[in-house]
Order: sequence, then C-alpha cells, then structure tokens
Amino acid sequence: MAFPRRPSAFLRYLIPAALILCVFYVLTGQPGSDFASPQNFRRPWAGLGAQKHPIEYLIDSAEKEFANKISRQSHTIAEAAAAYRQRRGRHPPPGFDKWFKFAQEKNAVIVEDFWDQIYHDLEPFWALEAQRIRKDAWDFEMRIEVRDGKASSGSDWFWTKIWLKMIGTVEGLLPDMDIALNAMDEPRLVVPWEEIDELVGRAGQDKRMVRAEEVVTEFEKLAKPGEGPEKDFETPKKVWEGNKHYWLIARRGCPPTSLARQSPVITDFNRTPLIKSSFALPHMTEGYVSNYTLSTDFCHQSDLQALEGVFVEPLSVSATKTLFPMFGGSKLAVNNEILLPAPMYWNEEERFMGSQGADIPWEEKEDAVIWRGVATGGKNKEDNWRSFQRHRFVAMNNGSKITLAEQRQLEPVNFALPPKAYGLKAQKRGKLGEWVASWSNVQFIDLMCGIKGQGVRCNYTDQHFEVTKGMPMAEQFRNKYLPDIDGNSFSGRYLGFLRSTSLPIKATLWREWHDSRLVAWKHFVPMDSRFGDWYGIMEFFLGVDGTGRDEVARKIAMEGKEWAERVLRKEDMQVYVLRLLLEYARVSDPRRGEMGWVGDLLGGEGAKGRDNELVKDGEGEVGSAAGEA
Ligand SMILES: *[C@@H]1O[C@H](CO)[C@@H](O)[C@H](O)[C@H]1NC(C)=O
Ligand SMILES: *[C@@H]1O[C@H](CO)[C@@H](O)[C@H](O)[C@H]1NC(C)=O
Ligand SMILES: *[C@@H]1O[C@H](CO)[C@@H](O)[C@H](O)[C@H]1NC(C)=O
Repeated sequence: MAFPRRPSAFLRYLIPAALILCVFYVLTGQPGSDFASPQNFRRPWAGLGAQKHPIEYLIDSAEKEFANKISRQSHTIAEAAAAYRQRRGRHPPPGFDKWFKFAQEKNAVIVEDFWDQIYHDLEPFWALEAQRIRKDAWDFEMRIEVRDGKASSGSDWFWTKIWLKMIGTVEGLLPDMDIALNAMDEPRLVVPWEEIDELVGRAGQDKRMVRAEEVVTEFEKLAKPGEGPEKDFETPKKVWEGNKHYWLIARRGCPPTSLARQSPVITDFNRTPLIKSSFALPHMTEGYVSNYTLSTDFCHQSDLQALEGVFVEPLSVSATKTLFPMFGGSKLAVNNEILLPAPMYWNEEERFMGSQGADIPWEEKEDAVIWRGVATGGKNKEDNWRSFQRHRFVAMNNGSKITLAEQRQLEPVNFALPPKAYGLKAQKRGKLGEWVASWSNVQFIDLMCGIKGQGVRCNYTDQHFEVTKGMPMAEQFRNKYLPDIDGNSFSGRYLGFLRSTSLPIKATLWREWHDSRLVAWKHFVPMDSRFGDWYGIMEFFLGVDGTGRDEVARKIAMEGKEWAERVLRKEDMQVYVLRLLLEYARVSDPRRGEMGWVGDLLGGEGAKGRDNELVKDGEGEVGSAAGEA
C-alpha cells in the first residue's frame, strides 16, 4: 500500500473483530447453543441487586446519554466554534457565522454532535484531490448546480426537484458548487474498507489548525452554470456493477476480519433461513438492543445476508468502488454516499407522515400493534421470499402460525420462536400465539409478487399471508404501538411515527441524516433485525396479566414526539443542509487546508469570553474526530 497505515486504526478494528470471531466460533461450535441459549444473554448488570427488567436499565442509561448530549448545547457563536474545533480538529468552514445566525433564527438546538454524520460522510474526501471532487460532481448527470447564490438543475426527476426546493431555501448563503444526486432507492457507493481506512487515515494526518491570521475566509467562484470546473482534470473511471447479489458488493465495505468478510456466502435462499441471536451479541445486552448504532451495522452480522431483502435481491443494483461525492437520502453503514435529508421528509407527504391523527391522546388509543405495508425489501420470488424482513415480521405476528409452531404441528418457514431465555409468560404457558393474536394487527396490503398478473396476491406466498386493505395513518395512530420495518431501503414513515403520539419500535439497517439526534430507548424503541426481541419488548410494555408498563411506553412516545418537533423540523433539515454544503464546498476547494472561519479568534464580534488556547499556538492537533472509517 502506498501510504502508511495507522496502527491505531488497524488495532481498533482488529481487536473487536477478533473478539466477535471468537464468540462466533465458540457459539457455532456448539450446535445446541443456538437461538435459545441463555449464553446469549450477557449480564453486565447482574449483581446490581434489584429485579429490574433489562429494558429499565436501558431506559435509565438512555436518559443519561441524552442529558449528557443536551448539556453540550452551544448558545453563542464562540461556544459553537470552540465545540467545533474540539470535535472536528479543524477551524469551522467559511460562512460559519452565517450558518450560526441562520440556526439561531430558526430556533435550532445547537449541539455539535448533531452534525456528526456530515463529518463521517465527508472525511475520506479530505484525502482526494479537491479538483477531482469538483470534476466528478460536475460530470454526474443528475446534479444540482449552485452559482452566485442560485440553485438550479437540468433534471426534473421528482426527487431532484424536491431536493432542489430544499437546497433552494438556503441558496443565498451557499458558495458555488455542484451536487451529484443518487436518484435510486438503493445506495450505490461501496468503497472497499481498506481504501476508506487509508483515506481517513491520511485525512486525519493532514488535519491542522492554521494560524488565524493566515486563514483563507472566502470560497472560490466556479465557472458559470452549464460550464464545468476543472476541465482538464482526469478523474478515475467508474465501473458500475449490476450484480444483483448485493451482499457481495456490500461486504467489501466491512473490515477484513469481520464476519461479513470471513463467513461463507449464502446463495441458496430457497429454504428456512438460520436465525441465531448469537450474531446480535455485540449490540445486545440481556436480549435487548443496547447499542443501536452498532445494531444497524451488519459487518458483525453475517447471517443478515439471508435475512434482509437488500442483500438477497434488491430491486436494482448499480454500484461502484470508486469514491466520488454522491449525495443520497439513506444508506447502509458501509456506503459512502453523503447523506441529505430524504426527499419524502422534506415534502411531508401524507402517506408517510400522517399529520392527521398524530395527536390522538395516548389514553384513547388501543393497547395494540398496527402495521400495514407492501411486501417490499427487494425482488421477492418463489425461491427467496423467506429471507425478506417484512415477510419474516408479518409471519411472526400471525397467531395461528405461532400456535402451530408451539404445538410442533408446523415449523415456521421463515422465523424462529423466541429464545426461552426471554422468559415470556405466554410462551411458558404454551399460549404465545394466542397472546400475540390478542394485540397484534400486522398485515400486508400487497404481496408484490415476482410473477406478473397476480394483482396484490401472489401464488407462492398466498398460503402464508392474507392480504388486506391499506389503512390511513390517522387510523393507524389509534393504536399505541407502531413497528417500523425497512422496505426496499429505509422506511419513510419513521419521521411521521416519531411525530405521532404512538410509540415507534424500529428495526433498521439504514442510516439517515438525523441519527445522532435521536437516542434509542429515550425517543423510540430499538429492535434487533432478527426480531427475536419483539415479543419480549411487547411483554415489557403490554404485560400479560395486567403487569405492563403503559406509562413507560407513553413517556417514550411523548418524548420522541416532543424531541422530533424540536430537532427534526424542516428548519432543522435546512440548518443541516447548510452546514453540510459549506463543508462540502470547502473540501472541494483546492485551498481547503487553509480555509476556515476564525472571526472569534481575530477579535471583534463573537470573540468574547472563550478561551481559545487550542489554537493560539497555531498548528495544534486537536479533537477526537479522526478516523471514522
Ligand atoms: C457502540 O458501538 C460502537 C461501535 O463498536 C462503539 O464505538 C460505541 O462506543 C458503542 N457505544 C456504546 C454506548 O457502547
Ligand atoms: C405460480 O405461477 C407461476 C406462473 O404461472 C408458476 O410457474 C409457478 O409454478 C406457480 N407457483 C406456485 C407455487 O404455484
Ligand atoms: C396466518 O397463517 C395462516 C397459516 O399459514 C394463514 O393461513 C393465514 O392466512 C395467516 N393469516 C394472515 C392474517 O396472514
């Protein structure tokens, strides 16, 4: 490799990966220790005394995490700039003062962590030539151009139009740039992990604080709209892969020692998938998700290759290994797109958002679960549908299927009964199916058949799923519990769920712009992608013999709603987009190393009352943000 590796980064991944591997081999070496093993329940809290439910500990620790986040709020530009330098190790970008003013005018909560995703997404670009970034963006056909404070696009693809509207609301504050957009549902960039690790390593090494007096505070102007920048620059050719087996593409974004890279590739999906909670061990504690971010990362969860439609057969694939600045609305942990708020969030479409009925009082709602949806997830077929997440979840909510499985009359074809270690009361009595049927209303409205001419039905899944009519969001909100299961990509209804007075229960592999603003178990309930914890979660909230914790569910639902109305507003999307695009314009500028906003350090407005020790001697290496591969 042409550039030295950073041993620290290497070790950081090697050690956890080695641990995961050990756990894997221990568990898989013992056939009896499958899904149902109590070994899968780590007990770091054992001995803490009380007979508290594991979820109660998770809720307590979410409270602390949230309080800690909020305590880092900035109220002045000097505080915001100091928090920036501390977390990012660079000066804020030119225009930071205007961004701060904008954020304040929009009454935004300013906590530097809220923009972590931007830095995760852009960091590798600091190691690419700025000219290359500019040229690549301009060369991409689906793009938005910003020149002289005006945003425009030659494309009238409906998503591009929505993004153009969103960016248009901050255009006057933007420098010149070209923004390449992913118009597909599926993310398309998967640069091999080794390459990203090296790029992020190099970006980290170049990180520095230029002396305030030497900082370049203006962005470069670009050629007129329709005229490309960096005409003579040769960018690497991109090869687009159309291999429908996306797992093979996705896993190269994982560390070489990860299970995703090391495990055999599954190609036969015409069978009952293996469902083992051992793969969830690193992100769960006592059977429940304790590290939500990690739970959305599939690198340690190689079994998900046969449990998620996106890995089995997405609707469309067009992927490349070549890093270039493409923006998109959601992505998997390994993808290298730069995230913008998704168009459907900006548009606030009723079918996703359901503003009506969103404020039905909790007390008036049914103690029940509702889910309606289409059998998406990818292209389901007769020989692969058992591996699709929505099919798995719907089947797990069918009381008669569960009863048949409990009575060992018919083994489930696409799910597993929950591990005994959950100690579910209904299961102990052999009445899990009956109990689930008493609160669950989960059905497909369209089986999305792989065979044409079947309407909403489908000859190979008909016997497993009844199809019912769709239900308006306003009516769904009459139920307290709203599971949210990924479709072809992220589920666009999440924001609507959060803003409602019902409780979202979320299982996902997708990352979105807002992830660092939400705290699992504080604002929503996280669920493992195998759904092995589903019944346990519901037993916790609903109880079996009047033992439920309705009040706890209500509290999370309300706090999620309040918080979404505080930090996930359209104004917050604008503030995010403005920060993102200032950073993007800087990293695309050949003078980026010297560029920044240092108004607070040079005296004058905003400079009052903060120690700027960190930067007084010039080139200090600061911050802990290096190396987010
Ligand atoms: C969650 O997992 C990530 C990745 O392994 C790790 O960096 C982070 O510290 C974990 N968070 C907690 C709260 O344990
Ligand atoms: C479904 O219909 C197709 C096309 O008519 C046929 O080839 C296939 O065998 C059928 N599958 C089942 C399970 O009936
Ligand atoms: C539940 O499962 C049974 C058995 O597979 C099936 O006949 C029935 O249609 C399913 N019910 C629903 C609502 O999908």
